[in-house]
Amino acid sequence: MAALGDLDRRRIVDLHASELARFRESRPRSLAMIRRARAHMPNGVPMAWMVSDNDQPVYIDYGHGPEFTDIDGFRYVDFNASDMAMFCGHAHPAIVAAVQAQVARSTQFLLPTEASVQVAEELAGRYPVPQWQFTLSATQANTEAIRLARAVTGRDVILLFQGHYHGHFEENLVDLEAGQVAALQRGLSKGVTGRVRIAQFNDADSLQAALEPGDVALVLTEPAMTNSIHLLLPEPGWHEAMRALTSQHGTLLAIDETHTHVVGPGGATAMWQLSPDMVTIGKAVAGGLPMGAYGVTAELGDQLDADRKVATGGTLFGNPLSAAAARAALTEVLVPAAYAHTSELGGELADGIEQAIASAGLPWTVIRLGPRSGQWYGPVPRTGAEANAQTDGELTRLIRIWLANRGVWEALPGAGPTVPVPATSADVSRYVEAYGDLLTRLR
Ligand SMILES: Cc1ncc(COP(=O)(O)O)c(C=O)c1O
Repeated sequence: MAALGDLDRRRIVDLHASELARFRESRPRSLAMIRRARAHMPNGVPMAWMVSDNDQPVYIDYGHGPEFTDIDGFRYVDFNASDMAMFCGHAHPAIVAAVQAQVARSTQFLLPTEASVQVAEELAGRYPVPQWQFTLSATQANTEAIRLARAVTGRDVILLFQGHYHGHFEENLVDLEAGQVAALQRGLSKGVTGRVRIAQFNDADSLQAALEPGDVALVLTEPAMTNSIHLLLPEPGWHEAMRALTSQHGTLLAIDETHTHVVGPGGATAMWQLSPDMVTIGKAVAGGLPMGAYGVTAELGDQLDADRKVATGGTLFGNPLSAAAARAALTEVLVPAAYAHTSELGGELADGIEQAIASAGLPWTVIRLGPRSGQWYGPVPRTGAEANAQTDGELTRLIRIWLANRGVWEALPGAGPTVPVPATSADVSRYVEAYGDLLTRLR
């Protein structure tokens, strides 16, 4: 629960209700569309997250640059960046041109094109792992990383940190509940909880204890934990301890850069000089087109030799369209100047949020990681358990709908705002102003 200082809980609930009513009433076309869509799609959407993560979905007409526009004509600056997938911005001219050119030359051969070689070269230049394979999503990249780790170590257990998210595969949908490893959703195989162990991020003792039985194939972690627990930064020495403990116990280490790669070329792995056995990535790596990738050491790359039969692959994996988009994203959009620009604006955003919190006299703290920001509703937490204790759905949903009514899109309960590449200082000011107005109103 949030530390509310002298904010009134009732006012949060009431304001959320009135903001949601205002949002709905002003969007008759989206409301009509959801009624129509329910006839043939559960929840009226093609994928359940579009309703479970939003109080009220809107149907989108088009996007351009840092914004998108809904079918009622409302424009939003996309500070969620589609959960990082659109970090390059909507309809970036370089991505559009690359995709258009490739579509005209066909989109699938089940054979490689030169673009995939160039993408592998580019990724190998950014991350400290030389051998790369492609999938259609980060979920699938993590799935294959796990399969490779199991094949190589002969062990079954995957170690994750409490509050993790790495995709919609079975092992990931398990976490601690009341101190026990439990399935978070229905439909998973019963044995999955036995194949996952959960430790605490930033806690070497907890990691050591979890690795001690010697049955862990892989530690899979983000370099800084984003997602359902918002954003946990590593404490000094944590990554070194994690690398040393995994090596000592014969466990492989995979760093998932799917969200954090926005901090710079080579993501947090390069920024913090990490040395994992594998790196996984997805989302914005192909400018928002479907693609995931994983890079591995030369030794692990040998294990992926087709004759060794590690269970990997899919018909559309490594397709020319995604490869063309990724080549454009990596060489024309995600260049050093873009990271410098978004990190500078991320700093402006964090400063603005911090000032608003200080003016409101709230005991909250501010998140800073390159282009990403946001607030903790209390002191900075160290572990997933501490972070979970601070979550506050009512307050988060109020912030989201308040911002949406003022032309700022932030979605997903755990995400914080991220400044996309085409955003400007004016976009950041728009966010900060709306956020500050909310805190003033709450007081
Ligand atoms: C860190 C991380 N890894 C992997 C994924 C899975 O990405 P996708 O849903 O695109 O497969 C996500 C999604 O949010 C993520 O945040």
